[in-house]
Amino acid sequence: MGTVYAIANQKGGVGKTTTAVNVAACIAEAGYETLLVDVDPQGNATVGLGIDRNGGPGLYDVLGGEVDALSAVRPTDIEHLSLIVSTPDLAGATMELPRLPGSETRLRDALAGVRERFAFTLLDCPPSLGPLTVNALVAADRVIVPVQTEYFALEGLAGLLDTLSLIQRELNPRLTVAGMLLTMHDSRTKLGQDVEREVREHFPALVFDTVIPRNVRLGEAPSFGRPVIHHDPHCAGSEAYFALAKEVASRG
Ligand SMILES: Nc1ncnc2c1ncn2[C@@H]1O[C@H](COP(=O)(O)OP(=O)(O)OP(=O)(O)O)[C@@H](O)[C@H]1O
Ligand SMILES: [Mg+2]
Repeated sequence: MGTVYAIANQKGGVGKTTTAVNVAACIAEAGYETLLVDVDPQGNATVGLGIDRNGGPGLYDVLGGEVDALSAVRPTDIEHLSLIVSTPDLAGATMELPRLPGSETRLRDALAGVRERFAFTLLDCPPSLGPLTVNALVAADRVIVPVQTEYFALEGLAGLLDTLSLIQRELNPRLTVAGMLLTMHDSRTKLGQDVEREVREHFPALVFDTVIPRNVRLGEAPSFGRPVIHHDPHCAGSEAYFALAKEVASRG
């Protein structure tokens, strides 16, 4: 049985998609069959991998039960990395999901048929705690929480952890926090250093040792439709995501 990771934080623009795409690429590079599921109606993970959002079934069709997950899995240009895309109609799922039977477990049930084919499945969540994120957290074994090292970093994290406990209690007892990940970090500024210290003090043992630096290559790689390790394998962003992938794997 493979392991399923949700990459979640209801805060927008904290590095969820960048983390999902690049950790998935690093794991695939190590030779493991990896599935990335774009659970966000924005479709940033799909586009960031250079894949057409319109060419075939996607997560919307899977959640609606129109196609099984395996038929929606598409290959990417990267060996060992497959994708379930976010088609534009996924935006409607936020309204439609609550009306479907088993609305909170539909992703978990759909992935049951494919998860043994992939050593790792990564779910890139939208910036909300709505029905799509709930489905991802119910389907996941672990959650990675990217936290941008900026002034309001801690804001909202308590609420997110409350939601995680609720889902653990009510819907998914297996769910654990793999870790919080400091992203877009600038270690040269006092603010960067202060925020890192504060988050580590607040959540001891929960924060990954690896920190993702602010890095131009990481920001521009999606516009080339590829993960950073294929855009510039030796830049600081690539090194950081390789280190993170190792740390994620070693935390079991
Ligand atoms: N370490 C980094 N260095 C520089 N730019 C980054 C870094 N991480 C992410 N970015 C850029 O910051 C923006 C937000 O990142 P990303 O899309 O990964 O966040 P997100 O949490 O998925 O956003 P959303 O909540 O909208 O889904 C993107 O333009 C991305 O390319
Ligand atoms: Mg995103």
